[in-house]
Amino acid sequence: MRDHFEIRDADGAGRIGRLEVPRAGRTVETPALLPVINPNTLTIEPSRLESEFDVEALITNSYIIRRTEGLRERALDEGLHDMLGFDGAIMTDSGSFQLAEYGEIDVTTDEILRFQHEIGSDIGTPVDIPTPPDVSREQAESDLAVTEQALADAEAIDVGEMLVSAPVQGATYPDLREQAGRHAAGTDLDVFPIGAVVPMMNNYRYADLVEAVAAAKRGLSTDCPVHLFGAGHPMMLALAVALGCDLFDSAAYALYARDDRYLTVSGTRHLDDLDYFPCSCPICAAHTPAEIREEADEPRERLLAEHNLHVTFEELRRIKQAIRSGTLLELVDRRARGHPAMYDGYRALLDHAAQLEREDPISKGTFFYTSPESARRPEVLRHHERLDRLSTPESLLLTEAGAPDGDEYDAAWRVLPPFGPFPRELADSYPFTAAVPEQPDRAGQLAAADGVRALVEANPDTEFTLAIDEWHADARKRVPDRVTVESLRAIQQRGPE
Ligand code: GUN
Ligand code: ZN
Repeated sequence: MRDHFEIRDADGAGRIGRLEVPRAGRTVETPALLPVINPNTLTIEPSRLESEFDVEALITNSYIIRRTEGLRERALDEGLHDMLGFDGAIMTDSGSFQLAEYGEIDVTTDEILRFQHEIGSDIGTPVDIPTPPDVSREQAESDLAVTEQALADAEAIDVGEMLVSAPVQGATYPDLREQAGRHAAGTDLDVFPIGAVVPMMNNYRYADLVEAVAAAKRGLSTDCPVHLFGAGHPMMLALAVALGCDLFDSAAYALYARDDRYLTVSGTRHLDDLDYFPCSCPICAAHTPAEIREEADEPRERLLAEHNLHVTFEELRRIKQAIRSGTLLELVDRRARGHPAMYDGYRALLDHAAQLEREDPISKGTFFYTSPESARRPEVLRHHERLDRLSTPESLLLTEAGAPDGDEYDAAWRVLPPFGPFPRELADSYPFTAAVPEQPDRAGQLAAADGVRALVEANPDTEFTLAIDEWHADARKRVPDRVTVESLRAIQQRGPE
């Protein structure tokens, strides 16, 4: 067990947790987003992050500090917390990202972790190799061997109470990501960042991102706190949390602001293209886009960065409340409608419904059917897989609407798209209290038909009658031949025998 991470609530594979950071003398609630502080350019003062944005943890780069005259001495002298003016938890990165950008860095894991410890970091990072997507398998494997050696080097150093992260690499090879996850979870390191996903996000390759994260998660154990390195755009947070990511860091709020880009939960807008702000944060409430365009470079950048952070933390609070309410997948569905890249990501997530199902709570609030993709949710899969546990009488009527009473059949069960048939006793249980559209769509009917088929196949001795009036022809085709299909009206008119 990793005793510094406690999971308090869950939905999908997403969770609300508590990460204990002993060196900071505090806990951090997850999902958490750690704003990236470039020690050379403080776009927003860290003390304001704490007082105005309730930021509990931030991340900065120990490699930049170490090689910058002045910063290095101050950090060693005063410690990171005083130097930055921040009392919360501070995570430090190692320079691996610079390695990926510029090809080389002149520091070892041993040197940089000791330095991180000396300057008072609360969570340190070894020198992993962020292998980009699409490299050859040989390259991905040999890079991964170097990363795994870095983890071994990190384990060998005494860093006192500082937590140490164990990055998971493997490029776009799911089996390598899974193996890397299993290896990382087998070390005695503490936090598990999934690395080298920035190039995927920059190219809007969200299906690939989901594959990489899902694979890494299969290797990691449930109790590992998982960080998604370099991720923090508000449009993708719900998706990443639903996959089981707990920590995020992002320079996006500041980098985008520098280019006059305005973050929203459904993508990025350019300040020049906005006539109105779709946001009520303190910045947007007090200014119009035209007013911000008038500002000089520096205040304009700061105002945009502040909005960008506000909208990001607002989304994070919305996500946490959705986990509490059991509606995280509805939120992911909503975000998938905001941007085609998120739609790709959502569909890739649903390809892993079985993996999500293992951690998804058995009971939540109300299942909302909000799109054809809802038919592929883990709850639907779970019901279909468990239909063989239900015992059926000799003759069973399955109907979409309310069942007619009478003794023509031993029992009547409702068929609810997308779940399919379920016995009356379960009518008040999750997920059968679902709110579904008046007119079920084709995906919902097809899934319901799959449920009928699973039940029929599991009960060869039962005689089934299916009373449905308006099913799509493709859904009817999925119902086994031995089921008698009738119209409910005909059965009602006939009445009990
Ligand atoms: N920041 C963004 N991606 C990465 C990564 O893969 N490794 C490290 N150490 N930092 C990162
Ligand atoms: Zn705003």
